[in-house]
Amino acid sequence: MYLILLGPPGSGKGTQAERLCKQLDLPHVASGDLFRDHLKRETDLGNLARSYIDKGQLVPDDATIAMIKERLSRSDCRGGTILDGFPRTQAQAEALDSFLQELGQQLTGVLFIAVPDDVLIERLSGRRICRKCQTPYHILFSPPREAQTCDLCAGDLYQRDDDQPETIKARLDVYHKQTAPLIKFYKAANLLHEVDGNMDIDQVTDTMLTIIRSLRP
Ligand code: AP5
Ligand code: MG
Ligand code: ZN
Repeated sequence: MYLILLGPPGSGKGTQAERLCKQLDLPHVASGDLFRDHLKRETDLGNLARSYIDKGQLVPDDATIAMIKERLSRSDCRGGTILDGFPRTQAQAEALDSFLQELGQQLTGVLFIAVPDDVLIERLSGRRICRKCQTPYHILFSPPREAQTCDLCAGDLYQRDDDQPETIKARLDVYHKQTAPLIKFYKAANLLHEVDGNMDIDQVTDTMLTIIRSLRP
């Protein structure tokens, strides 16, 4: 199963991917998490990506596509994966199609998580992330049991640099201009399934699982 979680920043891609991957026993491939790992390790790719991520802009397609291809080539992705945050441009979507073709695979479906902009801003402003396992929390909507500590791995929680008001605004603009056109693209390919992301986290997961189970026996 090759599934894409498509949606604006803060729509819950990371939150839902985490849960779906556990339920479906699939690896979670999140382009943002991969970039943040490169930043931390100060690789060449990390240094290139930093200037874009800090401004809320997209990292150039060629570097992003190469990183994802490398990740999808690893053995744990052989049975499929859940993609979170990739593709984000038409060029990335086309590159993914041809890469899956090379692997003799195809996309199973695209889950588009719809959430209004005002809700997204509220979510991103209160988000905290686990430094060790990247699990997202929210100070009001999804707080950890113990303040500043991850429920799953006891790692420290931190606030992402790009979750500042100015950068959030830039990320939303970029999403509407560069990524939202993919909704039409995948609708035309008969792969798009829209999910109301403005419900409880559990309700969104249940809705997604129902859709996914209807895609393939
Ligand atoms: P990335 O890390 O992918 O960030 P994003 O797309 O902006 O998405 P987020 O991670 O902010 O949101 P999410 O949808 O995962 O929401 P979450 O589950 O955390 O990308 C970062 C940067 O990397 C980009 O700006 C770009 O520079 C670069 N990049 C990445 N991919 C790229 C690509 N393909 N091409 C080029 N550049 C790329 O939830 C958010 C908050 O809401 C959390 O606090 C959570 O607890 C809470 N929450 C979630 N669901 C609910 C709910 N149902 N009700 C209430 N609260 C909820
Ligand atoms: Mg995320
Ligand atoms: Zn953790």
